[in-house]
Amino acid sequence: MTTRNEATTDLKSVKSPKRTEDYAKYFQPPSLKDAKKRGKEEIRVHYDFAIPEEMEGIGKGKRYLIHTYGCQMNEHDSETMAGILERLGYTRAAAEEEADVILYNTCAIRENAEDKVFGELGNVKRIKQNNPNLILGVCGCMSQEESVVGKILKSYPHVDLIFGTHNIHRLPVLLRDAMFSKEMVIEVWSKEGDIIENMPKVREGRIKAWVNIMYGCDKFCTYCIVPYTRGKERSRRPEDVIAEVRELARQGFQEVTLLGQNVNAYGKDFTDIKYGFGHLLDEIRQIGIPRVRFTTSHPRDFDDHLIEVLAKGGNLVEHIHLPVQSGSSEILKKMARKYTREHYLELVRKIKAAIPNVVLTTDIIVGFPGETEEQFEETLSLVKEVGYDSAYTFIYSPREGTPAADMEDNVPADVKKQRLYRLNELVNQLSLEKNKALQDQVVEVLVEGVSKTNAAVLSGRTRGNKLVHFVGDPSLIGTFVDVRITEARTWTLHGEIATKIEV
Ligand code: SAH
Ligand code: SF4
Ligand code: F3S
Repeated sequence: MTTRNEATTDLKSVKSPKRTEDYAKYFQPPSLKDAKKRGKEEIRVHYDFAIPEEMEGIGKGKRYLIHTYGCQMNEHDSETMAGILERLGYTRAAAEEEADVILYNTCAIRENAEDKVFGELGNVKRIKQNNPNLILGVCGCMSQEESVVGKILKSYPHVDLIFGTHNIHRLPVLLRDAMFSKEMVIEVWSKEGDIIENMPKVREGRIKAWVNIMYGCDKFCTYCIVPYTRGKERSRRPEDVIAEVRELARQGFQEVTLLGQNVNAYGKDFTDIKYGFGHLLDEIRQIGIPRVRFTTSHPRDFDDHLIEVLAKGGNLVEHIHLPVQSGSSEILKKMARKYTREHYLELVRKIKAAIPNVVLTTDIIVGFPGETEEQFEETLSLVKEVGYDSAYTFIYSPREGTPAADMEDNVPADVKKQRLYRLNELVNQLSLEKNKALQDQVVEVLVEGVSKTNAAVLSGRTRGNKLVHFVGDPSLIGTFVDVRITEARTWTLHGEIATKIEV
């Protein structure tokens, strides 16, 4: 039930560790062991977020920058952090050299994501030396990892602030402590917090918006760090989600993307109502916003009711991102995905039958511990059978603390690379075929801006999320345009204006 609780939104000062040998005494590191626990307590929703009076204006005349890595969830969290900083009076800096606060909103999903951040933290040391008042903060999923916090303490002492994914609402007080105490402030909660509504947001652009529908993940796929960094599954109340989408529609946004690590588990944590993702979409479908997307769908919780609702179309676009991870039932079992190849293919069959022009995309991991050549070939054959429009493909990266990190990994690195290459060849070939099928067809494009490479060219996306370039007037940005496809490439479509659609 919705209740209020002052305790967790309390902005009382935290005790900061001194940058001395006292670390061990004050420092409470994140704990993967605690992060793994799933308590039964009810999640509370707080509607009383406010910037403490004494902190209003502390950012006046100062500038901030946020570097964001990782998934849409992180991008949206950065919009919230920007919102909080702007409420404090900060404005956005154009370059690191002029910033008073730089936050690194990090991603822990694969080793190379982490390496990138450590590289940046090394580079920024020079700027900190030139500007000792600069506050450097590390937040996001990496902060939730014990090993990362340990490494920052040891090798990146110029970092001023570390906070996690569960206490973003405490940014004002954490920043103040970092500013005035000149001590490294570390506050990472290993147990997820409650849901905090009404945090300010500075959204990127006025056309498309992210909307969280749930937080956390309880799936514990054996390779994945997210359930540890994001805590247990917690759904926002439907009325809060719906109110946000209505408000975005009123403000003139043309598209929303509903966010969750596993949106199909939406509502499973409600104890007072029986209300799932299908119900939510059925309501959002009736809101006057032209396009509604969602990500990510876990195949296991994709039920018939949801398919039925999606088949109603309208503002619910025909694009489903349905990560499969592997085409081998044995590997899927080792990954604890809790479905088989057959179950996945059956789901795809049902979706295609209900939504004939559906665009399916996926995520695939190659080189999972013990993956044999035959098992990898099962992935290739599944990809062909489904006929994805595109796929994100990854080489397995062991994540400390996850069960897969302890599995024997006998697949040599060059074999993994080879498999990724072979998979990408196939995926690209399928993408091109799918795009070629759109040749000479007229598609509806939501125009998002001018092309990065040619200012005379506009770019936008189809309902199926395909990128389209065409020559047009910038006044069309933010509108829907009918475009006839004249050239289909692997990753982009090119076309010319057919007619403008009145919306
Ligand atoms: N919640 C989403 C995925 C979020 S992570 C889902 O379950 O679909 C995005 C993708 O990163 C995953 O789908 C997976 O393909 C990949 N990934 C996650 N952990 C990984 C790891 N340890 N190594 C390589 N890829 C990984
Ligand atoms: Fe990770 Fe699996 Fe959860 Fe996705 S569903 S975030 S892959 S544990
Ligand atoms: Fe990365 Fe965290 Fe998202 S690990 S993929 S930023 S949930």
